[in-house]
Amino acid sequence: MKTKSILLIVVLCLIGVNTLKAATNRYCLTLRDDPATTMVVGWAGDNGTVHYGTTDEGTNYTNYPLSHASNRTATAHGQTRHFARLTGLTPNTMYYFVIRDAAGQTSARFKFRTLSDNPNDAFTFVNGGDTRDGFKTFGFYVENCPSGDCLEKRREGNQLVSKIKPDLVAFNGDYVMNQITSNTTNEWNQWFDDWQLTISSDGRMYPTLHTQGNHEDNQDMYNLFDVPQEEYYVLNIHNGLFRAYLLNSELNACSNTAQLNWLTNDLQTHATGGTSDPIWKFAQYHIPTFAMGNGYGLVGDQMSCWVNLFEQYGVKLASESHTHITKWTHPCKKNSGNTDFVLDSDGIVYIGEGQWGAPHRTLDFTGANKKPYVRDQEVFDNFFFIKVSPQEISIKCVKFENVDNVSESTDDNLGSDLPAGVVLWNPSNGNEIVITNPNAPSSVVENIVKVSSISPNPSSGIVNINFNVDMKNATIELYNSLGKLCSSEKVSGNEHTLDLKDACSGVNYIYIRSEDGKVESHKVVKF
Ligand SMILES: [Fe+2]
Repeated sequence: MKTKSILLIVVLCLIGVNTLKAATNRYCLTLRDDPATTMVVGWAGDNGTVHYGTTDEGTNYTNYPLSHASNRTATAHGQTRHFARLTGLTPNTMYYFVIRDAAGQTSARFKFRTLSDNPNDAFTFVNGGDTRDGFKTFGFYVENCPSGDCLEKRREGNQLVSKIKPDLVAFNGDYVMNQITSNTTNEWNQWFDDWQLTISSDGRMYPTLHTQGNHEDNQDMYNLFDVPQEEYYVLNIHNGLFRAYLLNSELNACSNTAQLNWLTNDLQTHATGGTSDPIWKFAQYHIPTFAMGNGYGLVGDQMSCWVNLFEQYGVKLASESHTHITKWTHPCKKNSGNTDFVLDSDGIVYIGEGQWGAPHRTLDFTGANKKPYVRDQEVFDNFFFIKVSPQEISIKCVKFENVDNVSESTDDNLGSDLPAGVVLWNPSNGNEIVITNPNAPSSVVENIVKVSSISPNPSSGIVNINFNVDMKNATIELYNSLGKLCSSEKVSGNEHTLDLKDACSGVNYIYIRSEDGKVESHKVVKF
């Protein structure tokens, strides 16, 4: 009898512990759609509902005017994650939220800021990659961290995010060491636990773009972060200010024609000089095209099949990762033999190569062998802090140093500068790279000349488009917010009826391509 009582107490205790575990945890925000109007809230633990609004109601979930149950639950590497894809948000607005789980527990109150839909508004982002597990067994690091402080450095980087308050984070692959081993549950638990350090003391969280490295596969990315399942995607940030291409370097740059054709088509569509041409184009992919990390060198297929497109269609900045060293280049272009880069003031600045805590490696080309197009190179833990405006892109490199003495930013506006105390990489030729826009308009003016009205918008089906002029041999193309072409049809006359049956729900874009080569774009929303 006594044994049974003890057993019952143990069982009740276990139920209690399990109830506690059922609470939500390991929160993460992902951008997979229009950054001005959508947000994916991801979490582990119990399933639940996001309660949110633009007024801070603390943890009183019933006071929030909006709620959204999780759209999907996915499992990978021992993680069960839930995702609520919020839509219809107001641009450039702070949202406050809690997650009420199925067991009736409410999370802490968090907040995020949507990005803008105005290309004149500056924004900032943190860019880096290659964290590493570094978890300890019996007091020792298991493997893969010869310097012994990979975990600590990753955490310092995450803490810096919380203090800098960037408008988004672009993470360039390789989250943990082991893709397929029994250790992955621990490694990913720890990665998400450490990611909580990116949350500011006021609960603000930062939406994140993810690219796939060679230590995770596309299903990992989809199931752990809810990135688009296609493995590569593009985001239109600030409605034409910055077009970010998130590419998958695990797919061969030349022979994977699906990615290559998609990239080619999207760059062509947005390189016409019309209103659909973004001011800046940015590419992010994990494996460097020509690495400065020792022993990696040239990826010829990327040089042949991607770089020529980047250069042809005006990409100005590329982020690479993977080799655990740090570099930033002068603007450069590929040479005629596709074997290396050469200096070219109209070229692309390459930054990298993945030092968010991963084990330090060595540089390949030093001293007299240093590449002339490499501005600076070194080995230390860091990420880049990038500010984008219509006039320029400013790139700084933040060292994972002095973290405790960095002040948390008090500025929640988009495009705010670094807080006091941040330690920058400061080579002899300066601590900042600025890419200026030779065509910088003092302000970006919507050049809407041909379309006079689009209605109804939002629409569930048919949209009527009226033109100010008679259209001849024009084409109207419908894209979803990830840049995937949904339909294309010819337009003549001064009105056209568009059927949204092929459009994705949510935000879509129509591009009207005139006979004179001009393109104008408009947002249409399908509900
Ligand atoms: Fe890698």
